[in-house]
Amino acid sequence: MKIGILISGRGSNMVALVDAVASGEIPSSEVAVVISDNADAAGLEKATQRGVETVVVERNGRKRADHDAEIIEELKKRGVELVCLAGYMRLLSQPFVQAFPNKIVNIHPSLLPAFPGLDAQKQAFDAGVAITGCTVHYVDELLDHGPVILQRKVPRLPDDTVETLSARILEEEHSLYIDAVKLLVSGG
Ligand code: GAR
Repeated sequence: MKIGILISGRGSNMVALVDAVASGEIPSSEVAVVISDNADAAGLEKATQRGVETVVVERNGRKRADHDAEIIEELKKRGVELVCLAGYMRLLSQPFVQAFPNKIVNIHPSLLPAFPGLDAQKQAFDAGVAITGCTVHYVDELLDHGPVILQRKVPRLPDDTVETLSARILEEEHSLYIDAVKLLVSGG
């Protein structure tokens, strides 16, 4: 399975996937490209260090569909079959979603449908929930929306801060994303 990963920033979920493919934990797969919409994304360097090709496709004031068309082209010309959004902070246009039917997935740091959008961990913390977590889901044109593939719960501990809670969620994100991609490459 040829995988393409889209990032906008730090890239820790991307690193988890790249390393799991390299170790064989995610079998029969190759990360063909990491694409960022942000030239300053710290994840770009991490991908390069791991020998993965990187491409920067910035929006530069273009229409969403025009930006997406260039990304689709970069993915298609490398034969990408599965697109993993990993901290990619943009909505996808309908043509993008339709270019890879049921083959675009995203990770989000809450138990969707609760707390979509930015700062999901802080949203859950501020709401005072006892349990939050993370979700891997198929992507549609809506924000952090689409059929759920896997979820994992993370309890809020009595002396948690947003930072400690976010760090524990992030650890679970990495293993949840690996588990979800394992399922997808095995046809599950
Ligand atoms: C992760 O927590 C991811 O779940 C979240 O952005 C962070 C990216 O971190 N994504 C969203 O909030 C999507 N709505 P990373 O760049 O280190 O993987």
